[in-house]
Amino acid sequence: MTPQRQKALKLDDPDVTLRRDVRESHVAPIEPVVMNSAADARAEVISSPQRLAVDVRNVSLTFETADGKVDALSDVSLQIADGEFVSFIGPSGCGKTTMLRVIADLQQPTSGAVLVNGVSAEQARLERRYGYVFQAPALFPWRTIEKNLKLPLEIMGFSDSEQRQRAARYLALVNLTGFERKFPWQLSGGMQQRVSIARALSFDPELLLMDEPFGALDEIVRDHLNEQLLQLWDKTGKTVLFVTHSIPEAVFLSTRIVVMSPRPGRIIDIIDCRFPRVRTLEIRETAEFLKIAQRVRVGLRAGHSYDE
Ligand SMILES: Nc1ncnc2c1ncn2[C@@H]1O[C@H](COP(=O)(O)OP(=O)(O)OP(=O)(O)O)[C@@H](O)[C@H]1O
Ligand SMILES: [Mg+2]
Repeated sequence: MTPQRQKALKLDDPDVTLRRDVRESHVAPIEPVVMNSAADARAEVISSPQRLAVDVRNVSLTFETADGKVDALSDVSLQIADGEFVSFIGPSGCGKTTMLRVIADLQQPTSGAVLVNGVSAEQARLERRYGYVFQAPALFPWRTIEKNLKLPLEIMGFSDSEQRQRAARYLALVNLTGFERKFPWQLSGGMQQRVSIARALSFDPELLLMDEPFGALDEIVRDHLNEQLLQLWDKTGKTVLFVTHSIPEAVFLSTRIVVMSPRPGRIIDIIDCRFPRVRTLEIRETAEFLKIAQRVRVGLRAGHSYDE
């Protein structure tokens, strides 16, 4: 690991690496390019002027189950530039989690190719180039909160003192200072989810994959964490892929919203959100915000008509 990657990120750290290009401008959406093979896709990435954080090319995935085949994803292509915040929204069971799992190399596509920061999804996983916040908190019940948070840091070989510092810093970030010695079952569901967010951030990955991280939280806490997440994203230039069922949450957080159809998951609309990177909850009252929310709603409704 490079010294730069080992450096901790902290919202109020003046030394944190800021990416001027990302902070000062919107990331232009990248048009999908029709590709014939994974090799062509790789060539395109190398020649692309803007680095792609995630490049999904014609991905389909069919699960073989005891009850027959389940088509979860159908010919999905999507290019996500470095530093974007992309939300995925769609009805339950449409393949959002499956999509994140394919990008994370936790699930193999039946066909198609995925590149993460220019390398295969497998290599990105082995190099721990992403943090994953699962739909359920996925904490080990026999480990304390602090020890859960330290687990990836232990595996990655951080020193004891660095592990302690990072655990303290990221627990503070999600407002859980004081819970270090508790066990997961002593925390509410929302608090457990915040631990899992802190854990995903703790080793400072370039890419954050977040599967409905705030779905179980009450609205006040959710608003607060939405704002904190945006600040973190703005300051660090991380790329975030974020699954949600909430239209306002998607519009508030994203540079682009990907609207998916019911199973088999297909992309039915990609919507640009051209708000300033630093935004406050007040933008939810603006005409532009309501217009985008309406377009998402229309897309979701149109998707449903596929099945009729
Ligand atoms: N391991 C698996 N084996 C068989 N079928 C699966 C598996 N994982 C997911 N599926 C099926 O694939 C489809 C997509 O599931 P997925 O979990 O990706 O949906 P989702 O969009 O994340 O839904 P939700 O919003 O409810 O979380 C569903 O029909 C689901 O039953
Ligand atoms: Mg899901």
